[in-house]
Amino acid sequence: MNATQGPTMPLSLNVNGLAVAAEIEPRRHLADFLRENLNLTGTHLGCEHGVCGACTLLVDGEPVRSCITFAGACSGADVTTIEGLDNDEIAIELRAAFNREHALQCGFCTPGMLVSARDLVLRLREPDERRIRLGLSGNLCRCTGYVGIVQAVRSVIAARRERGITAIVADPGRGLGPIGARIGSGLAAGALPPNTVKARVPAPAAKVAAAFTPTDSFEQTFTIGRPPAEVFAAFGRIREIADCIPGALVDGEPTPDRVEGGIRVRFGPISPVFRGVALVERDEENFTGRILGTGADAGERSTMQGEIRYRVVPGEEPGTARVELAVGYALKGALAQFGRPSLVRNLAGRIIAEFSRNLEDRLMGRSTGGAPKQINLPRLVFNSLSEGVRSWIKRLLAFSD
Ligand code: FES
Ligand code: FES
Repeated sequence: MNATQGPTMPLSLNVNGLAVAAEIEPRRHLADFLRENLNLTGTHLGCEHGVCGACTLLVDGEPVRSCITFAGACSGADVTTIEGLDNDEIAIELRAAFNREHALQCGFCTPGMLVSARDLVLRLREPDERRIRLGLSGNLCRCTGYVGIVQAVRSVIAARRERGITAIVADPGRGLGPIGARIGSGLAAGALPPNTVKARVPAPAAKVAAAFTPTDSFEQTFTIGRPPAEVFAAFGRIREIADCIPGALVDGEPTPDRVEGGIRVRFGPISPVFRGVALVERDEENFTGRILGTGADAGERSTMQGEIRYRVVPGEEPGTARVELAVGYALKGALAQFGRPSLVRNLAGRIIAEFSRNLEDRLMGRSTGGAPKQINLPRLVFNSLSEGVRSWIKRLLAFSD
């Protein structure tokens, strides 16, 4: 175990008919295990939170989203990836039909799409368009639209039924589509037959977990043109601090060790408020503190948890303070699409820069209208990405000189 690796666990399973044994971190999801440990990169990763279906593969013959399935939960299972379907009769027919019907362009969704389509070919008695569309509704394609895809699947089912190959509908209660995406009765707890992956697929977390384990952490520092004691004292005035944070709201009267409130985050036309609670600890002697918070949007479709540890030390210039922050966080749900560590760090850098400017203005007695009332996440993401592209172009131009 090295400094960056957590505890590990043994894993043995069959992948594409071959026995595999490995030592893995319990948090490693199946798609990462296949792609990074076994170099099976045919399993694609799009959203990484169970929405797009790009990572769909078979576990014990059932379509499963490998980005939300822990590898460790598949001990003893038979995993089949798109590479394992090279010589599969139905997959061969589907690949030909996808070509014939122009059912792919970039091909990013295609491995997951083929796995789900194969399951439909196996189980639908007739080439029923409505059921095919329902069965594929957990697989998103950004290129082609679905007409060609649906037509490809229909044509394979029709051709096989015409050749007298019947569907293997063994379980009428089993829903369509990958586990976790199934619509209607198939999700009923008793609907899955024995010996399926039911026990191996982790249930989605309905609530913010009580124990907080960050999925990523990073450090940031900033300097304020006021002495450390003054800056540390300001950190204890919760309302004032909240006023300096873009989007932050405080509900009721905060106590020195607890605050209830939220952050308003704008996603395009909607701006949900993530409400929650933060526990605050301060060490007056060492000028350090800790804020531990959890929050969720109104429907609990997205949750966030975070811990900020801070330390206020003298800055390089006399009369200034340097604030050192150590931030850990975990994002789940829709918000997780903005959760790539590099992006979060970049966004955090921008939010912290704005916070420190507002705080300094306040401490210097400069008038400030306060922080914006919401975080415009798409704009921040766009700005971050365009900065990345600009620096990439600069590097390219420098290289070509
Ligand atoms: S990557 Fe798994 S569902 Fe999108
Ligand atoms: S073919 Fe490009 S995402 Fe489906």
